[in-house]
Amino acid sequence: MRKFCKPKALESFVRGLKARRKTIGFVPTMGFLHEGHLALVRRAQKENDAVVVSIFVNPLQFGPKEDYRRYPRDLRRDEAILRKAGVDCLFAPEVKALYPGSFQTEVRVRRLSTPLCGKSRPGHFAGVATVVLKLLHLVAPGRIYLGQKDYQQFKVIERLTADLNLPVKVRMCPIIRESDGLAMSSRNVTLEAPARREARVLYQALLKTGSLIRGGERDARRVQKALETALKAAHGARVDYAELVDAETLLPVVKLRQGSRVLAAVAVYFDKTRLIDNLLIRV
Ligand code: PAF
Repeated sequence: MRKFCKPKALESFVRGLKARRKTIGFVPTMGFLHEGHLALVRRAQKENDAVVVSIFVNPLQFGPKEDYRRYPRDLRRDEAILRKAGVDCLFAPEVKALYPGSFQTEVRVRRLSTPLCGKSRPGHFAGVATVVLKLLHLVAPGRIYLGQKDYQQFKVIERLTADLNLPVKVRMCPIIRESDGLAMSSRNVTLEAPARREARVLYQALLKTGSLIRGGERDARRVQKALETALKAAHGARVDYAELVDAETLLPVVKLRQGSRVLAAVAVYFDKTRLIDNLLIRV
């Protein structure tokens, strides 16, 4: 596996691949890798000649009161994991390599960035869109792989690539879960043991929502209320949002139309750790 910290070195590696007509699959991450990331890597390996993984904790997507400093990091461990997984290239730039002092550009995907996580994390998706656009220019992949856990992020990047005519296909991979259902996330390690136990509630509440809809409930407000109540039953849970939205626009739904696709999405704080999860439901 090749490792690059400087954009210029990565660019010449990528040029070499392109000259040999190799297809590139790209998995952008913020590191502290888990099975969810590896599932993205495996899918990318299946569908491309070479796989590039980036590890970059992107300061632009964290608000001033968020966990940028606390975000777990262990580059040595991540490198070993990626080498074992047979990844071709790791791009792990320093902050100043991507954002020199003169940096001032921001990319914004307006409507999709506003609801759900956008409400409590203003500026977050602009930070994501900006860094992903930069990474796409540097890695120049044919396909980029993202996890469904960050469904809104997937929709934002899908829109970004379509709006800006980027020659890349955006692929979404299913959520990978711990044995008790908690969606895998680098942030899970920051949970204290009691909170970790209670955190199962996110998936359990989402499953209940799914059964409620399958059972014939069509009033979105009632479903949403039930979702919120299920989450609040967990000790120490502070619900940021619990919503039922249209899976394409991410706007709230009122009546659940037969055949439509909706997303039940939740964000819950346990102490300082904010967890998200979601379920796609065909009504
Ligand atoms: O999902 C993440 O880890 C990040 O938001 C991403 C896509 C790597 C951009 O920083």
